[in-house]
Amino acid sequence: MECQIGVISGDGIGPEIVTEAKKVLDQIGKKYGHLFHYTDILMGGCSIDATGVPLTDDAIAAAKASDAVLMGSIGGNTSTSPWYQLAPELRPEAGLLKLRKSLNLFANLRPAYLYEELKAACPLRDDIIGTGFDMMIMRELTGGLYFGARKTEEVDGVTTATDTLTYNENEIRRIAKRGFDIAMKRRKKVTSVDKANVLDSSRLWRKIVEEVAKDYPEVTYEHMLVDNCAMQLVKDPKQFDVILTENMFGDILSDEASMVTGSIGMLSSASLNDTKFGLYEPSGGSAPDIAGKGIANPIATILSAAMMLRYTFDLDKEADAIENAVKQVLKEGYRTIDIMPQAGESTEGIEQVGTAKMGDLIAERV
Ligand code: IPM
Ligand code: MG
Repeated sequence: MECQIGVISGDGIGPEIVTEAKKVLDQIGKKYGHLFHYTDILMGGCSIDATGVPLTDDAIAAAKASDAVLMGSIGGNTSTSPWYQLAPELRPEAGLLKLRKSLNLFANLRPAYLYEELKAACPLRDDIIGTGFDMMIMRELTGGLYFGARKTEEVDGVTTATDTLTYNENEIRRIAKRGFDIAMKRRKKVTSVDKANVLDSSRLWRKIVEEVAKDYPEVTYEHMLVDNCAMQLVKDPKQFDVILTENMFGDILSDEASMVTGSIGMLSSASLNDTKFGLYEPSGGSAPDIAGKGIANPIATILSAAMMLRYTFDLDKEADAIENAVKQVLKEGYRTIDIMPQAGESTEGIEQVGTAKMGDLIAERV
């Protein structure tokens, strides 16, 4: 198979971790007879430096011309980087929001999974962890508060800022269907998260989710208020299979879920539209403090490449090969610094490796 992949290396650790993902993909290509063609696309701070804007029309066109886009990370230190002196619509993050909207990437899948080998990194008590947890957060990505009209103005001499949260039934229906579809391939449970005790948009959300649920009789579903969900994620994360939620709640809950696994450097994500196209990126940020040191964990990006093979190219066997290679490397004791045992824990059989070495080890095992 020939695959056209747009590559957004981005800022901070982005270029380092993307290099490792390409290394692993190329190895997959060699072993399974596929050809991966890469086109570099500028987005984020590096695009601001080169063009004055975080995402150009050419960059959008290049992304659209690709079968899929693999991304590292974008943005810098919000208190020290000059990018954050710019108007909000010219900052790195605005590029990402614009790309999601331009490509209609409304379905954001964020797995949060506890690796047996990394149990010690989980901040929860052993009795809460039990046999571990494995959930998928399905976050709506192109609507809601992040895309509503906003303004800051003087009202009767008082500076006043307004953001608006709008969802229509079609936007809710299409993401709900995605949530139930993915539940059918998993443990067949959907927890739909909203704030229906306060928000109209959440009451509509609930109504539409109930309609969609009728088409999936095998899936058990429940509604949960977002504040309760935030609590349940640390009280009993095992209970969750698919968490289906709107944009802002998903933003917050997915960070919480990743922290609960204790290893954000391990978590991948996919943003999909209604074609086979997808944007694949690690859940973590650009980590400017460790950029260029060769110590960043490339596994989340490598696993994002695996998601790309699975969802855009239907190469399940190849995706399995990457996921198994990652598990194998962990089993053999290799760790980047972020997932090293904590003080007081045993380091027997554990070896710390840098970014490139971790990529090599995984590539060798696919
Ligand atoms: C994420 C990020 C983005 C978001 C920011 C950078 C706009 O936090 O992907 O979760 O909120 O969607
Ligand atoms: Mg976020």
